[in-house]
Amino acid sequence: MCGIAGYVGKKNAVEVVFDQLKRLEYRGYDSAGIAFPQNGGIGVLKRAGKLVNLESVLGQAPSDARYAIAHSRWATHGAPTDENAHPHFDEHEDVAVIHNGIIENYLELKEDLEKRGHVFRSQTDTEVAAHVIGHEYADGGPLEEAVRRAVKQFRGAYALVVISRREPGKIVAVRNASPLVIGLGKGENMLASDIPALLPYTREVLVMEENSIATLTDDTVAVTDGDGRELPFHPQHIDWDLASAERGGYEHFLLKEIHEQPHVIRQCQAGRFNEDGSVHLEGVFSEHVWMEIDRVNIIACGTAFHAGLMGKTLFEQMLRLPTDVYYSSEFRYGDPVLSPKSLAIFISQSGETADTLAALRLCKSKRIRTLGIVNVLGSSIARECDRTLYTQAGPEISVASTKAYTAQVIVLTLLAMYIAQIQEMPGVRLQDWAKALSNLSGLADEALKTECEVLEIAEKVQDMKLAFFLGRGADANLALEGALKLKEIAYVPTQESPAGEMKHGPLALVEPGVVAFFGATDPSVSDKIVSNIREVQARGGTVVAFTTEDETIVPRASDYVLRVPTSGEEFLSSLLTIIPMQLMAYHVARLRGCEIDQPRNLAKSVTVE
Ligand code: G6P
Repeated sequence: MCGIAGYVGKKNAVEVVFDQLKRLEYRGYDSAGIAFPQNGGIGVLKRAGKLVNLESVLGQAPSDARYAIAHSRWATHGAPTDENAHPHFDEHEDVAVIHNGIIENYLELKEDLEKRGHVFRSQTDTEVAAHVIGHEYADGGPLEEAVRRAVKQFRGAYALVVISRREPGKIVAVRNASPLVIGLGKGENMLASDIPALLPYTREVLVMEENSIATLTDDTVAVTDGDGRELPFHPQHIDWDLASAERGGYEHFLLKEIHEQPHVIRQCQAGRFNEDGSVHLEGVFSEHVWMEIDRVNIIACGTAFHAGLMGKTLFEQMLRLPTDVYYSSEFRYGDPVLSPKSLAIFISQSGETADTLAALRLCKSKRIRTLGIVNVLGSSIARECDRTLYTQAGPEISVASTKAYTAQVIVLTLLAMYIAQIQEMPGVRLQDWAKALSNLSGLADEALKTECEVLEIAEKVQDMKLAFFLGRGADANLALEGALKLKEIAYVPTQESPAGEMKHGPLALVEPGVVAFFGATDPSVSDKIVSNIREVQARGGTVVAFTTEDETIVPRASDYVLRVPTSGEEFLSSLLTIIPMQLMAYHVARLRGCEIDQPRNLAKSVTVE
């Protein structure tokens, strides 16, 4: 949510930060802006709308600027206009500030400053932050000390990056609950909200700690805590392949990420099996802890929440372990009943989602054991959980999550198998599960081959006025995720529910022009699904079924059919249907001319409440 970039070194800084911003545009695209040194002061260029609007005026920036900061905005306070775009100046244009997050007490601060004669040009909380910093700076530098004094007055979540006309060649950054990563180079240093923006320039990164302040020049980086004490730092080497953070010939990141899933399925299992076929999960709790756990709470948002529902199905069916799944935003304010022997699992692609992070901190304050299932290395949730399992899916750039979902479900499957192994659960055929998982990548490749048929069906149904997503058991979980994809990228209104619930209300919405997508991979309920299909068709609705190659009766009843291969484990056959569902959302969105990688109003990493 909001992309931040900064660079100081020998290169054309405007060019570098703009390139970094392009790699971060998935974090926000309501407006973009850039600040750089110019004629002894600070020059700013900013434009509402996407980066191309900023690019069209970038020629006005000097090519010899050796430091610059840049921002792409996901609007919270104030409409997406030129005036509200970052960077913002303080009263005397001494400092320019970019910001990701929300300063919750900005109105109080603003009123106070207005009484002192400050005039504001935007409706943003960021401009207020800039004025507070400028005010502190007027009392004396250096810049990092002024920032330290200013942030003591802020409540909320923020990553702030500041430059000053009085201290050329210096960038100051502060992090509180919004991510910031520093990239260390030779004769150059930089920072960004996310690692992919830094990869073309350096592989040595330092994830900023909570409440730390960093000062960057071309050859120094100093990190201090809120009281000015120097903090030791331990850079990490990032070995992600740069290509995995680029589009690699695909028209959109989303399509690329859908197609990466066979590889991701292999990747997230890599190193997680012993030679004897047993599951090996590095760094999780010791065996006696797993014996003691009496309940699991899974907490997550969006697609990660849907992965959590798959976890519930698995934990209850395989382990008979009671499992609840909560939206993070509900959990954190819901005063949940938590057993001291329970385990709280936090699922997050970004590892930075504000509500999930707050729910995690709540569990920690109640001394509940916490386990993260996270994609982004070194992210807040990954660091703050007692234990973390990485999904190893590589960078996910498109706002709508695809490969991260599949990886999250695979990690939950490995975890369930691991617990079953320790608890010696009778009746769990672990070897069969291991075999099914090892075959899954190949089956995912086959599932991708449905793309031509998906496209043909998408052409027929693209004008649907409403899409139902229905299923039973694990397929009902998949239906929720299939619906979310279509809604978020193709803007098709959706109605999702377990198929059996349809007659308790949603059926009233079925009429010609409605398309019902059915997940139907469980043969034990095929006849029930066929009845539901008939109920839709009788009212003029069109039916598309996602089923397995072995299914016989559902295809005969449906208007269109997409078949995935049958896995040895039904749960995994069900999981495979997410691939044609994702492809359906993609192709419908493309046919409807939607902005696929950057859907309106959404952002990849939601670091505000
Ligand atoms: C946003 C993204 C979704 C994502 C959700 C949770 O809404 O657009 O794709 O599923 O946040 O994000 P997380 O990073 O915690 O998985």
